Amino acid sequence: MPNHNREKSTHMHDKETQAARLQVPDGFSPEDVRNISSVMNALLADTFALYLKTKNFHWHMSGQHFRDYHLLLDEHATQIFAIADPIAERVRKVGGTTIRSVGHISRLQRVHDNDEEFVGPIEMLKELHKDNKNLVVSLRAAHEVTSNANDYATTSLLEVWIDEAERRAWFLFEATR
Ligand SMILES: [Fe+2]
Repeated sequence: MPNHNREKSTHMHDKETQAARLQVPDGFSPEDVRNISSVMNALLADTFALYLKTKNFHWHMSGQHFRDYHLLLDEHATQIFAIADPIAERVRKVGGTTIRSVGHISRLQRVHDNDEEFVGPIEMLKELHKDNKNLVVSLRAAHEVTSNANDYATTSLLEVWIDEAERRAWFLFEATR
């Protein structure tokens, strides 16, 4: 096709037609796609927010248990970061669209940032314990939506991520009492 024709046909696509080009035909109803995308994108925003907070505390850890806590939080951050890409790709696989920017994350995140200049070591662990417990609640809520839609693949991934979040919460709890 000559170049000018290709250009012309691209211009003919309005925004809606272009958005339709990101749809993936896979058997989920539009309502299921909307519901799954909505819970999973909120979860993805929380994942990025919690990843960064865990790294923040890893970088700014202090005190006599520095080495232990610093290393524990790095393990947790690695584990949290590892679930981000699979969450986003599940949204794409069911035919939804996912997060596009840091601004998009900040609009969806339910995990609160902590920009304090100094946070004590025990406060850090307690805050992360609470955040991971809340993440478990959000993961369970997402599980309900995906299992209602018979989205078995997302549902089974969520089951593994619930176990991981419960394990992180367990370690953080035991380290603070
Ligand atoms: Fe590090």
